[in-house]
Amino acid sequence: MTQHLPITVIDLGGQYAHLIAAKFRGLGYHAVIADPEAPLDEIARSCGVVLSGSPSLSAYDEDGSAVGRILDLPIPILGFCFGHQEIAKHYGGTVIHGQPEYGQSTLEITVDSPIFRNVPKQSIVFMSHGDTVTSVGEGFSELGTSSTADGTVHHFAAIADEDRRRYGFQYHPEVDDSVFGHVMLENFAGICGCEKTWSAENFLPEKLASIRSTVGDRDVFLLVSGGVDSSVVAELLLRALPGERVHMLHVDTGFMRERESDQVRDLFAGRVGDRFHFVDASQRFFEALAGVISPEEKRKIIGELFVAVCEEEMSRLNLSDALLAQGTIYPDTIESGGTRRAHVIKTHHNRVPLIEEMIRAGRVLEPIADLYKKEVRDLGRALGLPGEWIDRHPFPGPGLAVRVLASDGREPAERAVVQAAIDEAVWPEGMQATVLPLRSVGVKADLRSYELPLCLSGVLPGADLVATRLKTLPGINRIVWNLGPAFSKVSCVPGSCTPDRVRTLQQADAIVTGALRGQDLMDAVWQFPVVLLPVSFSNDAAGCAIVLRPVSSERGMTARVPELPQAFFDAVVPELLGIPTVTTVLLDLSTKPPGTIEWE
Ligand code: XMP
Repeated sequence: MTQHLPITVIDLGGQYAHLIAAKFRGLGYHAVIADPEAPLDEIARSCGVVLSGSPSLSAYDEDGSAVGRILDLPIPILGFCFGHQEIAKHYGGTVIHGQPEYGQSTLEITVDSPIFRNVPKQSIVFMSHGDTVTSVGEGFSELGTSSTADGTVHHFAAIADEDRRRYGFQYHPEVDDSVFGHVMLENFAGICGCEKTWSAENFLPEKLASIRSTVGDRDVFLLVSGGVDSSVVAELLLRALPGERVHMLHVDTGFMRERESDQVRDLFAGRVGDRFHFVDASQRFFEALAGVISPEEKRKIIGELFVAVCEEEMSRLNLSDALLAQGTIYPDTIESGGTRRAHVIKTHHNRVPLIEEMIRAGRVLEPIADLYKKEVRDLGRALGLPGEWIDRHPFPGPGLAVRVLASDGREPAERAVVQAAIDEAVWPEGMQATVLPLRSVGVKADLRSYELPLCLSGVLPGADLVATRLKTLPGINRIVWNLGPAFSKVSCVPGSCTPDRVRTLQQADAIVTGALRGQDLMDAVWQFPVVLLPVSFSNDAAGCAIVLRPVSSERGMTARVPELPQAFFDAVVPELLGIPTVTTVLLDLSTKPPGTIEWE
């Protein structure tokens, strides 16, 4: 029988603890996360233990601490950063406060060890520590030193007692900046005798069994948005439980992508029959947004209405005894700028009073809460979800409503002054710089901005020019490049987030997504919002402009503009210009900050 004991990562509070487990799983090893206070016999059922870093300096440093008893287990143990210091101390070494190192250092391996198999003598590692190991106890030796750019050498960057199978790294091999970190993790798994048994396929039966035991004989209720996470949870529930116990609700706000709500229905309705509940609330959403210009106001209205619709449905369906399943994934639980707002909107979905009551009563099931997006996608694939479902990009809760901008038809008052300053600046020969007559949301110095986009045309601006102008031009938070015909006149067109505008944007969005898929570019961008501006670049008084906003990003906190092949633009621009009312196509060249990903 294959040995299926996991590597247990003890979460001492460091921000990378979950990443360590995800990295091992990415290498094919079964890895789980445990608190230091978890029952010792549970931790002992592992092929090895990893002690994570910690933000606290002395939480576990007393004798007999939770970590101490783990260190007495007769299995291989590897510590990172704080975990490394705990190992040194436990076996008679010393740790002092001082000699911090942050960022990249060069690790120099001074003693051969199986933990460094296939790692070059010198490599870049990522450091983030304030305390430092200054001596090691009996049986331990220094395996390597680290040096910073200023030439300072730090001792005990890596230590080991090969007999006891104890290893410590001052650096974080789990982050990508530690170039050979994954090799070191692989080596540790080898030392543990851990076999490669983790794959989404293997994980699946365990997950299904645990869902069955948690759910017992209750009914389960899930809100399906059309995103990857809730779809994977839906699929898990349908595999684990009899169909008649699974209830789903999809709310069509009217701001979904083209045919998206139908696709959600197609994917699940056949499976759960009349337990798939579908509410077309689009009329109510459009009515509520009629004439609303301010992005914040739009968000507030959408959020409140969503809550109202969900509450109505849940009470109507009388789901008071059901277990609520949610597609929460690990990054949702990390407090980060990028997910902060996602949290707010998920609040709409997941924290309506009825749901909060269920959470208090312990009736919430979050089967993928430990997984990262990539793992969720792997699981989705193992579950047989269609490929084009799995490669979907993140989509904001308010949907296309934050991508259809509104205008009262009046130019922002500051436009003339900002344009005058732009006209005074020096621009490359042949380049025109036109301030657009509307505002969009951005972020400057961690604060929200609501400023004007600058449209460049004539000569393609280089990335340097865009970066410096975004930094120095007052009143501007975005720079776009005109991919459409030359223009002589730009005017704002009154109107809000109406069904016809949303329809135009759905068409544009479908053209872009189709080309991305057709040219195999879905993975080349992290997200690709397509935005409709109530701005006409021609004499068409009802015209609009379409903005392409491809971004590279990790979690949406910052964003860069990826380079896409010319063939992509050659394919989409003429098609977009063929949509009635579209007068031009613009490419957003702004990084975040100062431009946010969404225009709102
Ligand atoms: P911004 O526009 O702030 O967006 O640069 C960062 C990321 O968050 C997504 N986003 C949302 N996601 N509900 C969500 O679930 C929301 O209300 C929301 N607003 C923005 C955005 O699409 C990008 O990925």
